[in-house]
Amino acid sequence: MNVILMGLPGAGKGTQAERIVEQFHIPHISTGDMFRQAIRESTPLGLKAKSFMDQGLLVPDEVVVGIVHERLGNADCSNGFLLDGFPRTVAQAEALDQTMQELGRSLDHVISIDVAKEKLIARLSGRRICKQCGATYHTEFNPPATEGVCDKCGGALYQRDDDNEDTVATRLDVNVKQQEPLLAYYGQQGLLREVNGDQEIEQVFHDIANYLQQSR
Ligand code: AP5
Ligand code: MG
Ligand code: ZN
Repeated sequence: MNVILMGLPGAGKGTQAERIVEQFHIPHISTGDMFRQAIRESTPLGLKAKSFMDQGLLVPDEVVVGIVHERLGNADCSNGFLLDGFPRTVAQAEALDQTMQELGRSLDHVISIDVAKEKLIARLSGRRICKQCGATYHTEFNPPATEGVCDKCGGALYQRDDDNEDTVATRLDVNVKQQEPLLAYYGQQGLLREVNGDQEIEQVFHDIANYLQQSR
């Protein structure tokens, strides 16, 4: 099952990916997570991505396309994958089509988690992430049992560098602009499944799982 998870910053891509991976056993490929890891390890990729991410801008297409192409060729993707946050431009979508063709595969579902832009600022400013296992929490909407501590592994929770007010505003603007042509691109191909992301986390997951259980 080859799936794309779309949605504006804070829509719940990472939150839903945790649940999808557990139920459907496909690898979670988040370009944002890949860049953050590269930054932590100070690799050339990390150095390239950092200045764009710090400003809330998109990393250039050619950089993103290259790492995804390489990642999808890995053995663990042979039974499917869950892409989170890629593609984000039509150029990236076209490059993905090319990669899929080379691999002799095709996309099954493009899930778009829809949440109004106005709701997303509160989600991003209250987000906390586990340093150890990457689980996502929210101080108000999805708090851990003990403040600052991960329920799953006991790791310490931290706030992402790009979750500050200024960067959040830019991220939302940039992504709103890119989103529309991308939705049209997949809508035309009959792959788009829109899910209301302004519901309880488990209800959103229920709606997504409904689509994933149906074959194309
Ligand atoms: P990325 O890491 O993908 O960030 P993003 O797109 O801004 O999305 P987020 O991770 O912020 O949000 P999410 O949808 O995962 O929400 P979450 O589940 O955490 O990318 C970061 C940067 O990398 C980009 O800005 C760009 O620079 C670069 N980049 C990455 N991919 C790229 C690409 N393809 N091309 C170019 N550049 C790229 O949830 C958010 C919060 O809300 C959490 O606290 C959560 O607990 C809470 N929450 C979730 N669901 C609900 C709900 N239903 N109700 C209430 N609260 C909820
Ligand atoms: Mg995310
Ligand atoms: Zn954890």
